Amino acid sequence: DDLLQIAIDGPASAGKSTVAKLVAHQLGYVYCDTGAMYRAVTWAARKEGIKADDNAALEKMLKNLEISFKPAVDGQRVYVGHAEVTTAIRLPEIARSVSTIAAQVSVRKALTKRQQEIAANGGIVMDGRDIGTTVLPNANVKIFLVASVKERALRRYKENKAKGIVADLKQLEQEIAKRDYKDSTRAVSPLVQAVDAIKVDTTQLSIDEVVAKIMEIIQKKG
Ligand code: C5P
Repeated sequence: DDLLQIAIDGPASAGKSTVAKLVAHQLGYVYCDTGAMYRAVTWAARKEGIKADDNAALEKMLKNLEISFKPAVDGQRVYVGHAEVTTAIRLPEIARSVSTIAAQVSVRKALTKRQQEIAANGGIVMDGRDIGTTVLPNANVKIFLVASVKERALRRYKENKAKGIVADLKQLEQEIAKRDYKDSTRAVSPLVQAVDAIKVDTTQLSIDEVVAKIMEIIQKKG
């Protein structure tokens, strides 16, 4: 069997990582969370005291920045060098500056190259914002996952609550909309549906339904 490249893009909190993980598991493929890579760069920049829009300083930092994923029973762990950053990169202060970091040309260039290397041999499900358009323009299957802002905020709210984090639903909605706007309007590789991507609206669907839908698309196209 040929090992496929599967690209899953879409706005913040549309369920990309949850669904991509499950699809990868069903296919026996590797899952790559490119958002975690941008978040890891954001974490490292904060630690080094580098401003989120300092393209040159970020370029320099990235030369020696090792970002890695390690499988674990409770999901993937994310590392920057030897430091485990799995939970740290999910904090609100990271979410607030990641879109500025991700708009820097040097950062996009460096991470795009790394992502292309990870996906080179296929057998991969990669999720992000520009996978189908820029990172893997020849991906075998491209999915564009969307859901209403209200539904995405509500999912994030429930997720936070389960983790014991109190959040304001209206504020979550505003933060998600703001990040979508920044990601969609940036100059380099903005969030946009690839012409050959298939749109899947998850607003009214359960996780299992979304996974089934994507598996069906893969079986048809693959
Ligand atoms: O997917 P996640 O919400 O963790 O991504 C965090 C941020 O990283 C996004 O809001 C976006 O600014 C950036 N990102 C990106 N390109 C990708 C993946 C993520 O610009 N391929």
